Formats: sequence, structure tokens, C-alpha cells
Amino acid sequence: MVYLDWNATTPPADEVLAAMSAATRDGWANPASVHGAGRAARRYIESAREAVGVLLGFDPRDVILTGGGTEANNLALLGLFTESVLAERSVLITSAIEHPSILRTAERLEARGVTVVRLSAEASGAIDVAELEQALTTHGPSVKLVSLQAVNHETGALQPIQEVRRLCDARGVLFHCDAVQHLGRLPSELLHGIDLITVAAHKLRGPKGVGALAVKCGLKLAPVFGGGAQERGVRPGTQDPVACAGFAAALHRAPAMIERYAGVARLRDLLHEALRELECELNAGTGARAPHVLNLSFAGWKGPELCAALDLEDVHVSSGSACSAGTAEPSPVITHCFGRDRARSAVRISLGEGTTLEDCTLALQSFRLVLRRNS
Ligand SMILES: Cc1ncc(COP(=O)(O)O)c(C=O)c1O
Repeated sequence: MVYLDWNATTPPADEVLAAMSAATRDGWANPASVHGAGRAARRYIESAREAVGVLLGFDPRDVILTGGGTEANNLALLGLFTESVLAERSVLITSAIEHPSILRTAERLEARGVTVVRLSAEASGAIDVAELEQALTTHGPSVKLVSLQAVNHETGALQPIQEVRRLCDARGVLFHCDAVQHLGRLPSELLHGIDLITVAAHKLRGPKGVGALAVKCGLKLAPVFGGGAQERGVRPGTQDPVACAGFAAALHRAPAMIERYAGVARLRDLLHEALRELECELNAGTGARAPHVLNLSFAGWKGPELCAALDLEDVHVSSGSACSAGTAEPSPVITHCFGRDRARSAVRISLGEGTTLEDCTLALQSFRLVLRRNS
């Protein structure tokens, strides 16, 4: 099996499995219980909180553990635009190529009266900082939040997050960054100083169903769910010590994982060079991109059909983000940046720290076989 869908999710690391196995045995109690068994379970919760804080440059007390990236993104947006905030600052600036957990939540906010500005990312695959500056000037003090991802989930395009942070800081506007595709792949220091950051464990070889929202000290968020006092009441519901143990283990190994990602760019480029012979177009734009993503369109093919044919050869790639799998619509990101025809025939190949030259060679053979058989 050749797994080249690391943007959808990553295989759990051995250290993660070992930590989760230990926590299954001795961290099963309710982490909110005050007795010894509860305290044993709570240690796993706090170890994840601590590890997120260390990597992102936050005090662990400012880290809210969530059920993953989608939930953290929802909490950032819905938690900030409360009724009282809306009366004073009612503008959200985001982009047209965000993950659906931002796009759909922005639509919900729009229905409640928030003005949503969606920056385009057409030419370079990334937003244009001048366009952001213009939007900040146009809407002035009405802007509450800028929410932009660090790395695009479909093209790997890098967003200019440090320039965005500086612009937001200078104008007293909050900046939320969806760093789900960044953490574990690119240096976490690049995220330091951002007001709110979303991360998810399963993109860095941790378990699914756990993530975090790091929130600038003193910033108040309204809970999305009603319930108990867990996570300071901002994210009520019993936390999962086993998932948190795996999350902490994944975060501890993240710096080494980042180092290994540098080598992944070479493999990606080799694969791209070889696939070029098969007449494909690169969906990347002109800007900088992450080392591990190769999004290609193969004319005459429908992305899902090509993925299905490759799947029969045991090569796993995707034709969009995993959360959109099963939908008939082509990728909104590729549609926005490169048009509908390119989106219909797009395939995302995403590599990871475990990808080998042999994987790439096997994948290439399968691409050749499938594309030539059907040409
Ligand atoms: C950029 C980005 N944000 C958010 C998410 C959602 O994270 P989760 O799968 O943990 O809900 C994803 C998942 O693919 C993503 O790629």
C-alpha cells in the first residue's frame, strides 16, 4: 500500500500508540473527578495542554482542548462574535480558500449580521496582503477578527501569516490562524505571537477527535455548547485522557517530524518531474508552498475516478479534502484558484515524513499504468 494522503490524516506514530495504550490502562477515570483515579486521568489532559502551549508559545492555561480542528475553528469564530461584540465590531475578514469549518461558520455568522469579507487567492494561491490592508482600511474599527489558515489543505500554498499578524497587531485587530496543516510540518515558531491558533492531533501522527484552540491571554470566548466547567466552561464535556495522551506524544515528537519534512520536498519534486510526462497541470499558483503537497489536474479525467483507479492499484491519493469526500462538487479551493475544469480533474498527492523513494516509484508506476490504460 502506498499512502499519499497525509493531508487527510497521518498514521499514528509508535510513541503515540504506546502513550495511548498506557492511558487506556491507567487514565480511564473521569479527569474532572477529584479523587486519585481522576487525578491520574487529568495528568494526560494537562500533558497535552502543556505540550500545545510549549510549541505554540502560549501559557498552557490559555489552551482550550477541543474535539479537533473543526471544533476549534467553530469556537474561535462563534466564540468571538457574541451579541455584545457584534454591536461594536461586526466585520470578519477571511479568505475564499479556507477549510469548510471556517467557510460554513462564516456563513452562519453572516446570517446573524456579521459582515464577512472573503479575500481572494487567485493568482498566487495565497491571499494578497495589499488586499487585506485595503479591507482593514475600508472597514476600520468595525473589524473584529481576521481568520486565515497557515497552509492550504488542498494546494499546500503558504499564507503570509507573519505579515498578516503584523498588520493586525498594528491595527488592534485579532488574528485567528487555522494551523491544522502547519503544525508538525513547518516550524511552530512561525506561529508565535498570533492571537488564536487552531491545531489538530491527527495531522501530526496523533489520534483523531482531539485538537486545541490556543487563545491570547485575557481574551474571553463564549462557549458554543452548554454544559459543565471543563476547559474553563468554554468547551464543556468530559475530555478524553487517552486521546490527550496520544496528542501529547505527537506534540513531543513534532520538532523531529518537522526536520524530516524538509526531505519530503525533494521526493515531491521528483514525483512531480516524472508525472509531468503524463500531461498534468500543477495547481499551485505562483507563491510559496509547503514541502509535501502536489495538486495536479489530469485533463480528460475526473479526479474521483482517477483516485478510484489508483486505489485499485493500492495507491491512496485524494481528489479533494477528506471532509468533502462523497460530495459531487469539485474542490472549491481549486475552483476558486484555477477554475472549474481544473478542479474537476484535480488529484491531491500529499506526502509525509514516512514517505519513501520506493513509495514514489510505485505511485508513479501506477499513475502510468492507469493513465495509459485509459488513454
Ligand atoms: C486546514 C484545516 N483546518 C481544519 C481541519 C479540520 O480538522 P479536524 O479534521 O480535526 O476536524 C482540517 C482537516 O482536514 C484542515 O485541513
